[in-house]
Amino acid sequence: TGVFTYDPGFMATASCESKITFIDGGKGILLHRGYPIDQLAAKSNYLELCYLLLNGELPTAEEYQEFSETINRHTMVHEQLTQFFKGFRRDAHPMAVMCGVVGALSAFYHEAMDISDAYHRKVSAHRLIAKMPTIAAMCYKYSTGQPFVYPRNDLSYAENFLHMMFATPCEEYKISPVFAKAMDRIFMLHADHEQNASTSTVRLAGSTGANPFACIAAGIAALWGPAHGGANEAVLTMLDEIGDESRIDEFVARAKDKNDPFKLMGFGHRVYRNFDPRAKVMKETCDEVLAELGLSDDPQLKIAKRLEQIALEDEYFVERQLYPNVDFYSGIILKAIGIPTNMFTVIFAMSRTIGWISHWNEMISNDYKIGRPRQLYTGAPQRDLPNR
Ligand code: CMC
Repeated sequence: TGVFTYDPGFMATASCESKITFIDGGKGILLHRGYPIDQLAAKSNYLELCYLLLNGELPTAEEYQEFSETINRHTMVHEQLTQFFKGFRRDAHPMAVMCGVVGALSAFYHEAMDISDAYHRKVSAHRLIAKMPTIAAMCYKYSTGQPFVYPRNDLSYAENFLHMMFATPCEEYKISPVFAKAMDRIFMLHADHEQNASTSTVRLAGSTGANPFACIAAGIAALWGPAHGGANEAVLTMLDEIGDESRIDEFVARAKDKNDPFKLMGFGHRVYRNFDPRAKVMKETCDEVLAELGLSDDPQLKIAKRLEQIALEDEYFVERQLYPNVDFYSGIILKAIGIPTNMFTVIFAMSRTIGWISHWNEMISNDYKIGRPRQLYTGAPQRDLPNR
């Protein structure tokens, strides 16, 4: 009953109050708990940002130490979970595997259902921060047929992830400090972005009182698509498809053609109608990594740079305020580090987990209602079944 506001795509609906992240899309501002993202990227690290997002304040030196030790205690996954991995086809997409495995964590931590207990909520958050890199790397190892590599707690968060991805029992992986810094930046720049599709999904699933690990699996599913987290993978696929600088104009013309569903992947954003502040930092990191590798002349990169230039100058993109977004650059960095394309969205999911669980925790700690949108019914009016 009643009259509802019709707002498809939630273009004008605030679904909640939140103290975690502020975005001004017009001005290109992104703040986490009040701190600008560029300052965090320059002076902080991912683990500290996790603490900030979850707890509301930056940790003191002792709090940081204690937090890192707590996270380290949880980095391993239950050995039985490895059996669960083995049920997947080995050529399954790593996002499909991650979605299933993270959902399965809810079977290992049923006590997490006690969401009214702040202690249980915190432990669930800590487990997720600690285990997501392990699970993400396991998804990769499983797809290559190499044995799973256990986490090493003497390494930093980003170093440990690179270790679990690339070390083997026969050979240690020599971790480049430039790569570790770039990975940490990628984690930070994807950590939270207020009520995006996947975070809203986690909140909606969580609003029913569901197990938080299952809610995170719902977030992973929502992130997967190319309009959201899947864009970083789609950028590289698109650069491959373009293949040569001579074909750029053809693809740009397709992106502008209203009768062609093709869009330039890595351009545009629902909220930013200005340069995405994360994209600025990502671009700098991208230049650093490519310079370190001596890859500044890479043909794919040349195509990327040309596309970037077109988007900043061409009337179609300028009029619609379609700037390169964070995923345009992150894909290029990840490729240069040696991460396979089908792992890009998995890395986005592991980075965004802190945002998801912080929003979930914020919702559960305050008054909230089950999320239940209404609709405008456009189907058949009431009618009778034919006589039979
Ligand atoms: N290439 C060509 N045209 C575009 C593009 C693009 N990438 N993005 C938007 N447009 C056009 C769109 O056709 C529309 O034109 P018109 O006004 O003539 O109909 C106009 O720009 C406005 O776009 P919209 O589709 O109404 O905007 P939206 O807010 O609904 O969608 C978006 C935002 C990010 C889904 C969309 O820009 C897109 O699909 N971009 C490519 C995928 C991508 O890079 N996604 C990653 C987003 S950042 C990471 C994340 O937060 O997940």
